[in-house]
Amino acid sequence: MSARLVAVAVLLAAAVAAEEAATPEVSYEHFRLLRVQVADKEQMAAVFRLSMELDGVQLWATHNMSTQLDLLVAPTAWTNITTELNQSGIKYSIIIENLQDSIRNENPPMEPEEEEWENRSGHRLTWKRYHHYKDIESYVDYLANTYPEICQMEVIGQTSEGRPLKVLKISTGGAAKPAVWIDGGIHAREWIAPATVTYLLLQLVEFRHDHPWLIDDLDWYVLPVVNPDGYEYSHTTDRLWRKTRSAGDGQCVGVDANRNFDSHWLEVGASSDPCSSIYAGSRPFSEPETKAMTDFILSRRDEIKVYLTLHSYGQMWLVPWGYKADKPDDYYDMYVLAEQGVEALERVRNTDYLLGTADELIYTSSGGSDDWAKEKAGIKYAYTVELPDTGRYGFVLPAAHIELVGQEVWEGVKGMMLYFTKNI
Ligand code: ARG
Ligand code: ZN
Repeated sequence: MSARLVAVAVLLAAAVAAEEAATPEVSYEHFRLLRVQVADKEQMAAVFRLSMELDGVQLWATHNMSTQLDLLVAPTAWTNITTELNQSGIKYSIIIENLQDSIRNENPPMEPEEEEWENRSGHRLTWKRYHHYKDIESYVDYLANTYPEICQMEVIGQTSEGRPLKVLKISTGGAAKPAVWIDGGIHAREWIAPATVTYLLLQLVEFRHDHPWLIDDLDWYVLPVVNPDGYEYSHTTDRLWRKTRSAGDGQCVGVDANRNFDSHWLEVGASSDPCSSIYAGSRPFSEPETKAMTDFILSRRDEIKVYLTLHSYGQMWLVPWGYKADKPDDYYDMYVLAEQGVEALERVRNTDYLLGTADELIYTSSGGSDDWAKEKAGIKYAYTVELPDTGRYGFVLPAAHIELVGQEVWEGVKGMMLYFTKNI
């Protein structure tokens, strides 16, 4: 390479590095995360109402059967919310003083040697930091290219912004085996979910000799990022973006993909307001992402026996239904299998996960992928796993946790599937 070309290459690498490390445009300077402790149903309803009505207040998550609620509060809303809570005698504490600080500390910059990987044919994932979608894609492509005997990549559709949705099938061939579906990144800001899914891919494919039965006895379908448009947007522009990036017809962009599935669509815990963060869309499967994913699953519905979708945060292994309090008739079967997963996961380092229905542990909401997988695709074992943490960092979990969470979830999935292959 001539000196000039080297100089250009260095400049390019620097530009790429700057793009990767750039903090998103939307600032959460002095936004606080508040943990509210409610004493009864009435207080809970009051807090829910405040989170809907007050500008600058956003419900992030609920814990302990909705007795604790995490609210993100803009500096402008601080006086309003605390006055209201104080007047109603509702207790609260501050868990994050300045969210922008957490955002700044979440993701380390690219290591110098990584800059040289930029154009290599291999992949660029590290599991040491959160990566852009193109790096996750590069890993899926890399696995398909490097292990063609067991990995096949299929583009199952395109996002609103034209990104390819890539499913990796892992199979040693032979007669049809029970299959497991795993996805992540339905919600854009839950970065730990796609990172964990790629960790599972690493184990399933590159470390397959440590546990050959997992691919000898089962087939796997893996979609690491269901909503790459939103995921990218949460990297470049707004760290807390949740929805897809479909244009809609008015002033607001995006649909909550996990309210967009055709299962009791828009019945409960979802909004018909395009500006809401839980907007269910103009109709079920209005989003190309949910449409492509469910068409694919339906085409393999006889094979797929377990549906697993990763979200964050809260540390919960959720069993349908999310849309109502009643439990499925075969709830006990679903619970027993999930329990194997939770127990194996907890054995790694005693991380506590709650096990129960989404309805009982967090809130009631319809149009979710797990309910759809069970109700409409007929997949008996359908689960949503809410990854760490329980609110210390919330969605902004430092990248140093990726490998820890990956190991735990890997053990959980293995434990669950060991029980499945032996007993079901
Ligand atoms: N946090 C997830 C959400 O709000 C949980 C979904 C659980 N499943 C359900 N069907 N509600 O989308
Ligand atoms: Zn989610």
